[in-house]
Amino acid sequence: MNIRQLLDQRLTAALQAAGAPVASSAIIKPSTRPEFGDYQANGVMAAAKQLKMNPRELAAKVLEQADLSDIAEQVEIAGPGFLNIHLKTDWLAAALPTNTQLDVVEPQTIVVDYSSPNLAKEMHVGHLRSTIIGDAVVRVLEFQGHHVIRQNHVGDWGTQFGMLLAHLADLQAQGGELSMQLADLETFYRESKQRFDADPAFAERSREYVVKLQSGDPECLALWQQFINISLHHCEVAYQELGVSLTRQDVMAESAYNDDLAKVVSDLQAAGLLTESEGAQCAFMDEFKNKDGSITPLIIQKTGGGYLYATTDLAAIRYRSRVLQADRVLYFVDVRQSLHFQQVYTLARKAGFAPASMSLEHMAFGTMLGEDGKPFKTRTGGTVKLADLLAEAQERAYQLVSAKNPELAEAERREIAHIVGIGAVKYSDLSKNRTSDYVFSWELMLSFEGNTAPYLQYAYARIQSIFRKAGNLEQGQSSIQLLESSERALGLKLLQFNEIIDSVGREGQPHHLCNYLYELAGHFMAFYEACPILREDVPTEIRASRLQLAQLTADTLKTGLSLLGIGVLERM
Ligand code: ARG
Repeated sequence: MNIRQLLDQRLTAALQAAGAPVASSAIIKPSTRPEFGDYQANGVMAAAKQLKMNPRELAAKVLEQADLSDIAEQVEIAGPGFLNIHLKTDWLAAALPTNTQLDVVEPQTIVVDYSSPNLAKEMHVGHLRSTIIGDAVVRVLEFQGHHVIRQNHVGDWGTQFGMLLAHLADLQAQGGELSMQLADLETFYRESKQRFDADPAFAERSREYVVKLQSGDPECLALWQQFINISLHHCEVAYQELGVSLTRQDVMAESAYNDDLAKVVSDLQAAGLLTESEGAQCAFMDEFKNKDGSITPLIIQKTGGGYLYATTDLAAIRYRSRVLQADRVLYFVDVRQSLHFQQVYTLARKAGFAPASMSLEHMAFGTMLGEDGKPFKTRTGGTVKLADLLAEAQERAYQLVSAKNPELAEAERREIAHIVGIGAVKYSDLSKNRTSDYVFSWELMLSFEGNTAPYLQYAYARIQSIFRKAGNLEQGQSSIQLLESSERALGLKLLQFNEIIDSVGREGQPHHLCNYLYELAGHFMAFYEACPILREDVPTEIRASRLQLAQLTADTLKTGLSLLGIGVLERM
């Protein structure tokens, strides 16, 4: 149990024993300033209001009931009825060695839908956010002991494959290697689209291909399968470069639900949830009424019988409930798809595809912007290819590393550049509140100062260098002592790791973990300045205690960064 949960348990019990309604909770938060103690309980005011009682009086009663003598040195009533809790320093010190042991959680089955690019085109920066944020949350959930099922819901179906296959068939007729023809998917897509727009005969053949594909024509399916394989391979190259944990096994493509779509529609019809509108099958739900009284419908089947993005998502929800038995399903998808997901979730609940016990959570994220504040584009206005972006990150990191450490061998500088460059791209995304748009800036993300990956990687490497120097010194054995205020602050921060993991698992917001690691590194630097470790006059048991604090900091930085999918270096 982390400190926050422990305090919450004890003070919520005391609050209720003092007469507050059973639903009352102590609401524990870490204090923002040392003079307010280490933690605050903010729940007394709300309970007092319900009881029509003076909050400071209720606070006094809570303190009579509370038993914190083993962990707190002092608890004071502040302001209108806050409780400021000062923890015992000895208790903190004794808890530290077990810091990296995680809280035991009730394991859940959690489906995480992320990355999910469209295979018709090359993966671009728009899928970067889903891939990076989703993967970090997956790692945190697995670390907590949950059973996580990754679902890469790739777009591999739909009318655009008609023109791609028609174009591919033509190129095939001319001979040549397929993987070469598809080496640049972006160009391939553009060429197909140009032909489609300019040549009516080609457009007609494209439509025929769609029909053939959908009716399961074996030749057409084989061609499509080859296309998908190559496109997926492109994604996998990017995953590998990024250190993202997705594999082929995690692909559950849109097409996998094809056989279920007719059944989805008939089940919705049987439940009376669909209305025909201009030949299409639509769900009109009161929840989506506009100001003028009209309702934005969710279209389930087009005139002519074609299914849509929503139909597949409904089939996927049913699969995730019935087959995967998910307790939670998390969707890391662009915020611009919010309405889509709200409609799909609402309809799935009405239709009984998603039981009340299964939670559906759209983990929305904003757009990646260029430094001009507009959506991130190449200088000529094209979409930025992921592969190019990652190559540039590593090249820039290589220049920095080479300037800093010209004496290192080329291969080592390349290795450092890989870890620093990729780490910087990932961290700059992860460290922003995911729901807002974020500005992509090479200078900021590669800076060795501020809340960046290089700063944290450097802090880690610096601690490793302390250990290298300590190698020859007599180290001694000792329990941890938190003597100086900077030492105590570092100790408390270390103990809060578990609280952060808990919140990232619940809210899917990795920036909380980034901020935590950044603050931890800051606390370490302050401690290291105030508390000498290796100086000769430092008594051996104090040195041993401080080396343990340094070790715990390094372990926590490394574990935290690895949960974000970012590597560390022993020296840099
Ligand atoms: N392929 C979609 C896109 O690129 C994202 C899919 C997200 N997942 C889902 N279940 N709809 O926009």
